[in-house]
Amino acid sequence: MNAKQTAAHKAVEFVQDGMVVGLGTGSTAYWAIQRLGQRVKEGLRIRTIATSLRSETLARELDIPVISFADVTAIDLTIDGADEVDPANRLVKGGGGSLLREKIVAAASRTFIVVVDESKVVAQLGAFPLPVEVVPFGWEATAGACAALGCTPTRRTADGQPFVSDNGNFILDCAFGTLAEPESLAARLNAIPGVVENGLFLGMVDKLVIGHADGTCTLR
Ligand code: A5P
Repeated sequence: MNAKQTAAHKAVEFVQDGMVVGLGTGSTAYWAIQRLGQRVKEGLRIRTIATSLRSETLARELDIPVISFADVTAIDLTIDGADEVDPANRLVKGGGGSLLREKIVAAASRTFIVVVDESKVVAQLGAFPLPVEVVPFGWEATAGACAALGCTPTRRTADGQPFVSDNGNFILDCAFGTLAEPESLAARLNAIPGVVENGLFLGMVDKLVIGHADGTCTLR
């Protein structure tokens, strides 16, 4: 097992029969969904809410029941990846472009477990450009307002075209360098008209599972 898989499998141990489970997005969450699929085949009864169309498709392929927010009032436990995590378990997320749904699902979860390999653990956030989801209308003005906060924003592309999120929005990858004050930055970004959400997940993590190359993992 690789480090991502090790972390994902550890996190899935916390899933119990009858739970509503949030499914994250990305190459680490992928392993958690695969493991859940195995456990469902073995008889685990869960219902899930996916943070992206990609993860929903994978879950359905594995015969994992997928529901929507119309069917539940809360999510018991969500397992998702991250692009960076600092010593206070603050995260940068959105490398896969799903940060808005990921944040909605994490905020609605009683327990939010984050799974990473050790390369994601950093002393300070910011080497990974901060993903910010913006509405397409006036995105140039929105990017200018983000730049005024001290970053170089780049509109994300995929196959030479603007990347479009599951919500029909663009992603600006905002290179700030080291994020000295993530809390105030998150508030200032979200105050810009046109910004839908930013990729800083602050004070949300209940459990961090770090997978190591030697097959072990650490809980924090
Ligand atoms: C998806 O939008 C992201 O927030 C992912 O959770 C994050 O990019 C981690 O992805 P990997 O597990 O693929 O590194």
